[in-house]
Order: sequence, then structure tokens, then C-alpha cells
Amino acid sequence: MSQQTKYPSLNNSSVFITGGATGIGAAMVKAFCEQGAKVAFVDLDGESAATLVDELEQSAGVRPWFKQLDITNIDALQSAIRDASDRHGALQTLVNNAANDMRHAPSDVTPQSWRNTMAINLDSTFFAAQLAAELMAKNGGSIINFSSINALLGPTNMPGYVAAKSAIIGLTKSLAKDYGKSNIRVNAILPGWVVTQKQLDSWLTPTAEAAWMEQVALQKRLLPDDVASLALFLASNDSAMITGQSLTIDGGRT
Ligand SMILES: NC(=O)c1ccc[n+]([C@@H]2O[C@H](COP(=O)([O-])OP(=O)(O)OC[C@H]3O[C@@H](n4cnc5c(N)ncnc54)[C@H](O)[C@@H]3O)[C@@H](O)[C@H]2O)c1
Repeated sequence: MSQQTKYPSLNNSSVFITGGATGIGAAMVKAFCEQGAKVAFVDLDGESAATLVDELEQSAGVRPWFKQLDITNIDALQSAIRDASDRHGALQTLVNNAANDMRHAPSDVTPQSWRNTMAINLDSTFFAAQLAAELMAKNGGSIINFSSINALLGPTNMPGYVAAKSAIIGLTKSLAKDYGKSNIRVNAILPGWVVTQKQLDSWLTPTAEAAWMEQVALQKRLLPDDVASLALFLASNDSAMITGQSLTIDGGRT
């Protein structure tokens, strides 16, 4: 059991997570299952998803519902959210987690590559929230959007990703006002450098990690489970009066 705190309000609750097959998304799928939630998730990566579902059946005795799709296909994404809600009961938590932190020099960006970056990192977040709000209208709910501390720091060679993650902060505030009357809360999580397998394989070299440790207060790796703990809190009734907020979890980097 990776999570320590039990949230009774999450037991049996209907949760939908994008990009749940690997990384932070997989930690959240696991964490919500361990809370007794009815979890549905989508991802492009069917193989990793199947492994995760089998593992959870062994470890937690539950099989989360999975659908393989590309979140840039808005019709497919919204249909999956509706299907999950029909199956698990009216949606209570949506986690907009899937993203692609592709690197590109500004000079290499084309109108099409820019559009693709927005489609993955921003458009899917809005359109998933749009449908979630309809499904949550009667009983309320919690929408958790993933931004990044890169929206605050503005690193080089990821202008599209940074623009999208910055937009998510504003979108979160604006939807919190639109949906507040239906008791739907909307918050954003801004993680620092989280040690996922993809980050280790791609960018988190020992040298990069040493440099990161010089910039943070807490001299520990930030793990997917740490971020999942924050998502659980934001989904639970324990955060009932928190909305429109951007919560940074970065070990003290910013
Ligand atoms: N890992 C970090 O250091 C870090 C830092 C700041 C913010 N974040 C944010 O946290 C969230 C999760 O991060 P992560 O590192 O686990 O991400 P990741 O890139 O490792 O994984 C995201 C998941 O989304 C899936 N995915 C990607 N594109 C998709 C698409 N078009 N359709 C369906 N699924 C798709 C991937 O297959 C993967 O399983 C993201 O929003 C990311 O931007 C991560």
C-alpha cells in the first residue's frame, strides 16, 4: 500500500484519469484504486495499461476500466468519459493528467507542430472538463488539471508545452468560477521534476539530478506517489472549500 491516508469520501467514487498507464498517471490509478474508488483511465499505451490492470488485480483485487485512445480525438475522449460514468456511476473526479513534454527549439516549431502540442496538452483538458461538468452537474465533483512548475520557470526549448501548461492555470481559475455554482471544484497541480521511468530514460541523468538537488529545499526525489497523494486530497471531501487554485509540489524548487 503506497498511500497512508484513507479518504472515506473516495470509497466507491467514480474517477476518470487520462494518461493513466505510466508515470504519475499510473501512480494515481493505483492510489485511487487503493482508496476503493471505481477507476477508469485512458492512454495511448495499451501494453503498459494492461500490465497495470493485471498488477492491480493481484495487489488490490480490483481491475480498473481501461480504454486505449488518443486524447487529441475529442469525440473518443468524451465518449470514454461518458461510458465510464455510465458504468461506474456519475463521475465525481476527473484527472486531466496526460501530456507530452516534447522539446523543440522555437525555430523548429511549425503551425502544425504547435497545433499538435496544444491538442495534447491543452485542448484535451478543456474538452474533458466540459463533459465532466455536465456529468457532475447534479452532485458536484472535483476536476484536477495538470500544469507544471515549468509554467512558472519558463525553461528553454519547450515553448509550446510551457504555453499550454501556463494556459491551464488560467483555465483552472476560469472553470472554477463557471462550475462553482454546481459545486464542482477545479484545481491545478504544478509538479516539479518527478522521477518517473520516462524522465530517468530521457533527461534525468545523474548530472541533471545533482543540479536539481542544488535548487530544491528538500534533498529527496519527488516521486509519482507524492503527487498522487495531493491528487487524492484534491479529489476528497477534505478539500471541499479549495477551488480555482494552483498547487505546487516541487520539494521547494520555486
Ligand atoms: N514528470 C515530471 O517531472 C512532470 C513535471 C511537471 C509536470 N508534469 C505533468 O504531470 C503529468 C504526468 O506526467 P508524467 O511525467 O507521468 O507524464 P508522461 O509523459 O510520462 O506520461 C503521460 C501518459 O500519458 C500518455 N499519453 C501521452 N500522450 C497521449 C495521448 N495523445 N493520448 C493518450 N495518452 C497519451 C502516455 O502514454 C503516458 O502514459 C503531465 O501532465 C505532465 O506534464 C510532469
